[in-house]
Amino acid sequence: MTTMLIVENFGKTFTLHQQGGVRLTALKNVSLEAHSGECLALTGPSGAGKSTLLRCLYGNYLPGEGRIAVNSRNKMLDLSRAGPREILEMRRETMSHVSQFLRVIPRVAALDSVAEPLLEIGTDPEKAKKAAKSLLTRLRIPERLWSLAPATFSGGERQRVNVARGFIRPWPVMLLDEPTASLDAANRQTVRELILEVKNGGSAVIAIFHDEEMRRLAADREHRLEPPQGAAMEPPQGPSSMEPPQGSPSMGPPRGREGES
Ligand SMILES: Nc1ncnc2c1ncn2[C@@H]1O[C@H](COP(=O)(O)OP(=O)(O)OP(=O)(O)O)[C@@H](O)[C@H]1O
Ligand SMILES: [Mg+2]
Repeated sequence: MTTMLIVENFGKTFTLHQQGGVRLTALKNVSLEAHSGECLALTGPSGAGKSTLLRCLYGNYLPGEGRIAVNSRNKMLDLSRAGPREILEMRRETMSHVSQFLRVIPRVAALDSVAEPLLEIGTDPEKAKKAAKSLLTRLRIPERLWSLAPATFSGGERQRVNVARGFIRPWPVMLLDEPTASLDAANRQTVRELILEVKNGGSAVIAIFHDEEMRRLAADREHRLEPPQGAAMEPPQGPSSMEPPQGSPSMGPPRGREGES
């Protein structure tokens, strides 16, 4: 069992630039580890910071307090020190993130969206398409939808395209944010099988499950997060002390593309 991820006394505070610079603490003193071949479930009430933690692990936000280190190509990469290029490389080589909602790439067909992570690592395009078709079939996406952009898909169809994209390659670390929230029983079962397969292949899975049954069946361990106590903080005085805004939600480049607004 290899340690794939270390989180130590980690904290994250957002500055709401469009609301007078008020500061809101989303995570405080989080410490955990994740290992290869296991599924760790993040639990805790709504607003406890579960999704925020996954985004921090994926390098979407500017570093907060404490430390996050990811085992990427047998070296521990400290995310608070890593530059954008190292974060992108870590994502390509080591980590996938299945967000709760598919952020649709306009005009890209579902099949191409699913095949993309394979093309990124130089897989032959025909092979990549074949793998994508097979996974979409497994997740019961009808063939008539494969060549369409998922913008008009149902919630559950989008979620399955998202899951397919996140499982097209067995990344060493896989982050799943409520991957079955909009799925029926048969597709939930398929996602459980996919999780089991990547775990058996040695991936470390860190997941948020919205239902207890899914968590009980898929997770080996749990880590509970509690919402940090205390009120939002007024901004510090003086314009120079404010963090600049970090842009809008996206699954694209690292650091702040996920709206610290
Ligand atoms: N980009 C952001 N800017 C400002 N505040 C944010 C941002 N993202 C999250 N928050 C705040 O951080 C807190 C934790 O949010 P988060 O989405 O991580 O909770 P969660 O545990 O995933 O909840 P749920 O179970 O409802 O999905 C919330 O109070 C939220 O308002
Ligand atoms: Mg969430």
